[in-house]
Amino acid sequence: GGPSPLDMVRAVPRIMRAPHLFLAEVTARHGAVAAIPLPRTPVLVLADPAGVRRVLVENARAYGKATIQYNALATVTGPGLLAGDGQRWRTHRRVVQPAFHHAGLRDVAAHAVQAGRRLAAEADALTPGQPMEVLDATSRAGLEVVGHTLAAADLSRDAPLLVDAVGRALELVVRRAASPVPGAWPTPSRARLAREVAAIDDVCARILADRARRTLEDPRDLVGLMLAAGMDHRQVRDELVTFVVAGHETVASSLTWTLDLLSRERTALARVHAEVAALDAEPGWDDLPRLPYLRAAVDEALRLYPPAWVITRQALADDVVAGVAVPVGTLVIVSTWALHRDPALWEDPAAFRPERFAGPERREHYVPFGAGPRLCIGRDLALVEEVLVLASLLRTHTVRPAGPPRPVDALVTLRPRGGLPLHVERLPG
Ligand code: HEM
Repeated sequence: GGPSPLDMVRAVPRIMRAPHLFLAEVTARHGAVAAIPLPRTPVLVLADPAGVRRVLVENARAYGKATIQYNALATVTGPGLLAGDGQRWRTHRRVVQPAFHHAGLRDVAAHAVQAGRRLAAEADALTPGQPMEVLDATSRAGLEVVGHTLAAADLSRDAPLLVDAVGRALELVVRRAASPVPGAWPTPSRARLAREVAAIDDVCARILADRARRTLEDPRDLVGLMLAAGMDHRQVRDELVTFVVAGHETVASSLTWTLDLLSRERTALARVHAEVAALDAEPGWDDLPRLPYLRAAVDEALRLYPPAWVITRQALADDVVAGVAVPVGTLVIVSTWALHRDPALWEDPAAFRPERFAGPERREHYVPFGAGPRLCIGRDLALVEEVLVLASLLRTHTVRPAGPPRPVDALVTLRPRGGLPLHVERLPG
């Protein structure tokens, strides 16, 4: 079953306002495998663990990425790792994979600790009593880490330009994708998008030219790896932009929600403070095993506010998903939001309880990073980064809400509407 065409017309304002809540409403009312009748493309909304496993893992080859979501993204990233599929995806994934292994992560750890110190310094620089705009601050912190990951080099000049242009371009694309009038694409915004994409191309060309002047042999150097594998400049550009899109706003969103939730749950915050206070010195890579509760807090925030609030696929062949026939061409929308808040799967799902993730137990219905062959390549990087940014900040500082909880905007990622002001204050002693 699923909503009727009339239901869908009536739902347009709700879809525009809060699409993540609309999807949860659909699965709550029509079941975790719900068909939506749209005129051209059949749509399946999925929040059923076995169904999600079928689409993302077991029968992953029968699903592609030519969806509204990824086609929109591809106007900015081109057919990079996130939006592309097929043989080109397979080859590129193999090329860049080494950069995400151990050695690279150690580097990320060091940069994450520095980024956490910088956040602390920014908090100290505010006038007493003035809240910190945490979404902006974590965004800047994440940028520093992404910059180093991209080129094992200082991109302090180019990376902010790239991120800004990518952010503006994505905003245009998301607004268009959210438009209730299919195909509506006013000419002024088309021209603006073209300008932003040209700006992105310029910055990438400069990064590539800089890189070509150096002969660095370093497995952590993504750009170097891609050039060495014979990828052309266009392909390298697409992957660079993809890493900015995939790795920047997601981490900022997740750090922001983790801090927001901790600020409102004093018991959890106290446990985090106790854990980081027990470290001998400034946190680092070797301390990760000593921070299980902080890690669980990050996991739990990713459950409640999965930055990737939908994961979409296009059926390349007929399939049957959790007993429901899925004709070729179907748009499958995995609602991570609904899956992560389903009362049949989680006890007291709206509560922030890091304890849920304290054990080694694997949860098949927890997919903030996707699953199967298209699992997020940056998962370990993101987790190392977040735990160490937070450990480094919360060693010396604490957080306190600066107002009631903010409503959630579901854009490229989940964001607190209007940002997140938070009191970030130095701990006594
Ligand atoms: C893929 C989430 C951080 C790079 C994905 C997917 C999800 C995801 C759900 C799968 C999409 C799908 O199956 O359609 C997240 C979240 C992050 C995060 C929640 C942070 C909390 C990062 C970082 C990077 C990154 C830091 C890179 C530096 C990518 C790439 C893909 C991807 C390249 C495509 C992988 C492929 O299909 O081969 N991410 N991500 N992500 N992510 Fe992440």
